[in-house]
Amino acid sequence: MLVFKNIKEMQAYSRNHRSAGRTIGFVPTMGALHEGHLSLVRQSFRDNDITLVSIFVNPTQFGPDEDFHAYPRNSEGDIQLLSELSVHAVLLPVNEEMYPEGFSLSVQVGETGNRLCGRSRPGHFDGVATVVAKLFNIICPDRAYVGQKDLQQTVVIKKLVREMNFDIDIIVCPVVREVNGLAMSSRNSYLSKEERRAATVLNRALKHGREMILIKEVSDTALIIKELEEIINSEDSARVDYVEIVDAEKLLPLDTIRSPVAICIAVYIGNTRLIDNIILQ
Ligand code: PAF
Repeated sequence: MLVFKNIKEMQAYSRNHRSAGRTIGFVPTMGALHEGHLSLVRQSFRDNDITLVSIFVNPTQFGPDEDFHAYPRNSEGDIQLLSELSVHAVLLPVNEEMYPEGFSLSVQVGETGNRLCGRSRPGHFDGVATVVAKLFNIICPDRAYVGQKDLQQTVVIKKLVREMNFDIDIIVCPVVREVNGLAMSSRNSYLSKEERRAATVLNRALKHGREMILIKEVSDTALIIKELEEIINSEDSARVDYVEIVDAEKLLPLDTIRSPVAICIAVYIGNTRLIDNIILQ
């Protein structure tokens, strides 16, 4: 497996494969890889001739009081995992090359980036869209793979591709969960043993929401949100950031259920902010 630190070399490698008529699948990551990321890599292998992965903890998507410096980093372990999967190449750029002195352009996502997570993380999705646009320009993949766990991010990236005319298919892969239902996330490494148990409340709340909608046929979203908040608040270490029921495509809030609907939640477990969602057709 090749590891590129230099952007131009990565660009040339990718271009050579494209010129030879090979399809390229791309998995953008911030490292600290887990089974969720690996499921994206495996899907890319099934769909493409070549699979490329980037590892870059992107400073522009973190707010000043967020965990950029503490964010888990394990590039040696990540490279080991990816080479075991026979990934063709990894891009591991340095900050100075991604954001050289004087860098000032950015993608402004607008309203879609201000809802849900955007309310407590202003500017986050502009940072995501900016770095993803740069990575797409470097790799020029045929397909890019993103996880449904970050539902709002998938909507933002699809919007980026549509509105900026990137010729790339965005493939959204299902949430990968631990046996106890906790959605896999690099930030789970912040949780203590007790917090890990408490964090299963996110999945319990989502399952309750699904039951209310699909089995009890409750249509009033305010009622569903109230019950989900009660479940989350029953855990001492949990604090709701938001519970929202939205249409799964534009993420606009719904008063009554209509398909496809997404239940999206963000919850602090101690100091760790976790997100999760389910989509119901
Ligand atoms: O989901 C992530 O890991 C990041 O937001 C991404 C898409 C790699 C952009 O930095």
